[in-house]
Amino acid sequence: GNYGGPLRPQVHFSPPQGFMNDPNGMFVDADGLYHLYYQYNPTATVAGNQHWGHATSSDLYSWTNQPIALFPGGPTEGIFSGSAVIDVNNTSGFFPNQKNGVVAIYTLNTPDRQTQEIAYSHDNGYSFIKYGGNPVIDSNSTQFRDPKVIWHAPTERWIMVIAYSVGFEIGIYSSPNLIAWTHESNFTRHGILGLQYECPNLVEMPVSGRSDASTMWVLLISNNPGAPLGGSITQYFPGSFNGTHFEAIDGATRLTDFAKDNYAGQFFYNIPASQDQISINWASNWQYTNVVPTAGEGFRSAMTVPRGHYLTKLPRLGMSLISYPYNVSAVTEQELAYNSSLGNGTIFVDYSTVRSGALYFEANITGLTDSSSLAGTLNFTFSSAATGESVSGGTFLASGDFWLDRGRSSAGFLNPFFTDKFSQLGLYNGNGAWRISGIIDRSIIEVFLNGGELSATSVFFPTQPLDLMTLSIKGINEKATTSVGVWGLRAAW
Ligand code: FRU
Repeated sequence: GNYGGPLRPQVHFSPPQGFMNDPNGMFVDADGLYHLYYQYNPTATVAGNQHWGHATSSDLYSWTNQPIALFPGGPTEGIFSGSAVIDVNNTSGFFPNQKNGVVAIYTLNTPDRQTQEIAYSHDNGYSFIKYGGNPVIDSNSTQFRDPKVIWHAPTERWIMVIAYSVGFEIGIYSSPNLIAWTHESNFTRHGILGLQYECPNLVEMPVSGRSDASTMWVLLISNNPGAPLGGSITQYFPGSFNGTHFEAIDGATRLTDFAKDNYAGQFFYNIPASQDQISINWASNWQYTNVVPTAGEGFRSAMTVPRGHYLTKLPRLGMSLISYPYNVSAVTEQELAYNSSLGNGTIFVDYSTVRSGALYFEANITGLTDSSSLAGTLNFTFSSAATGESVSGGTFLASGDFWLDRGRSSAGFLNPFFTDKFSQLGLYNGNGAWRISGIIDRSIIEVFLNGGELSATSVFFPTQPLDLMTLSIKGINEKATTSVGVWGLRAAW
């Protein structure tokens, strides 16, 4: 692959060439090496001809492309989305002589149905053998897909969540051996229906701020088409799981992201529930993914940066999924600007010499003690010195309302569904502090509010590289201070 093009992200994963969608099969092996598989069309820059592409990384930013891991058996087959596990105890019988056997569980798509198949790997996930007894689940349906499997220690069973897409149901299955599966329950018609449920994840993760170091379960469901902003979106439900049934804590639906380019995320297998969980998400939207201008550089779609996750109870929203850029220090390189006591003022950063064109930035405002300090604003702009194209965002501190605008950097891409602006309201928690951080990387920006209480992912397509950042704070009084930092990121390719 040629990773040198001006729209090619440098700290985000993208395929060597061709088209990528959902992350699949994600696991971390015993040596700490992360494996990412993905829906991959190696022969065209549009969706179709689905294989599982494969890449590995030890820091989740620098990826090594590996040979394709799973191939369809013929022109009418597609290897659709799914997951992978490490069968340490050889429950499957595929691994009599090893502790690191990998089993992939995926949907085989054919013209007359979608069935669940498995394939096993003796070499740590680099090559797979399709199981001779496939399919392992066939429910005679054309809309039944995206198995995500975890090990449930209390019941000593494998647990699968899977979408009955047009029935708006998430099926929960159990198995002692990854081969024989028993249907246990369905989680039916919760939250946003859209027109389909896809790519569920069931994951146990820490709850912060609790003295007993407790954990809680989260069920995530992706919707496409039919998201509130159009196309694709992911919702989640905190709740409890007893080994057979999932129950949400309340009747609310919550979204993982408030822009349009975060879909079908998957959580890594083999991270203990007591630690922050890590996901990678497809940074695109089915409404326009097949027509975005990166095809001129031979590829379409990138993943988000790795996201760290835990749950916390927010004052007004209640139990919420926190999403922050995981391990970003692995790629932070030069400090381009740092000011620990900026009051009202503006920081300018010319980053035209940063080879990656990628930045990490944060601004932490503290001391917002009264209504006069809260009258202020924080705004940022990334622009092209050559053309004036820009991506910008900002907040009105009094309300915490936040906006993001990619419309002035994508003039070359005229698509009615490629929405310009996104906004999110009311995140100021009344605690005197407001924080923002973000990563911008050539054609993608990810923004995190208050340490990831809310996040937004947006792709954009400037005709010239963005290379000038301004961040300005106005209207806060002298009791409030801001610490602002901007770092250039190391090109990972
Ligand atoms: C989600 C999805 C999945 C399916 C895959 C096919 O983006 O539609 O439901 O398995 O993509 O590529």
